[in-house]
Amino acid sequence: MLRPVVLVGMMGAGKTAVGTVLARMLGVPFRDSDDEIVRAAQMEIPEIFARDGEAFFRARETEVLGRLMGAEPAVISTGGGAFMNATNRDLIARHGVSVWLQADVEVLWNRVRHKTTRPLLRTADPKGTLAALLAEREPLYALADLEVGSAPGLTVEGMAQKVIAAL
Ligand code: S3P
Repeated sequence: MLRPVVLVGMMGAGKTAVGTVLARMLGVPFRDSDDEIVRAAQMEIPEIFARDGEAFFRARETEVLGRLMGAEPAVISTGGGAFMNATNRDLIARHGVSVWLQADVEVLWNRVRHKTTRPLLRTADPKGTLAALLAEREPLYALADLEVGSAPGLTVEGMAQKVIAAL
């Protein structure tokens, strides 16, 4: 594998879970842009959003991606909003292969509904917010090099195999 494989897609799409297994299968390191931001800031994501705002978080996200894309080949999981930014898309396109992990809103909602780690879903109607974000973002995720969809009964390993088959 010569180019980093960059997983993009919504919160709950399985980027971290699939990415971890995929990296193991490919024998390369796994990196997670959210984790790198948290480590550098020494704050969790909701805290960063609350204290410094989303724009600050997005700037850190672009910095981290720039660093990860220039480093050794790896499987890189990005935060759900990362691929919305043209600079990030360009960085990813120049250095790596992007893979959109696709899932419908019911699947996504079932995975994120009990978690409190996503500040963007702290609204009066989080499921509606998730659906609206998905609708807004889908056209941009569709710009990824590859698209791999989750299906009922498909395991994380199965999804990682599907990504490998598509590479
Ligand atoms: C975000 C997704 C999160 C995290 C932040 C913003 C988004 O990452 O980067 O809460 O804009 O969709 P995950 O996609 O890993 O949940």
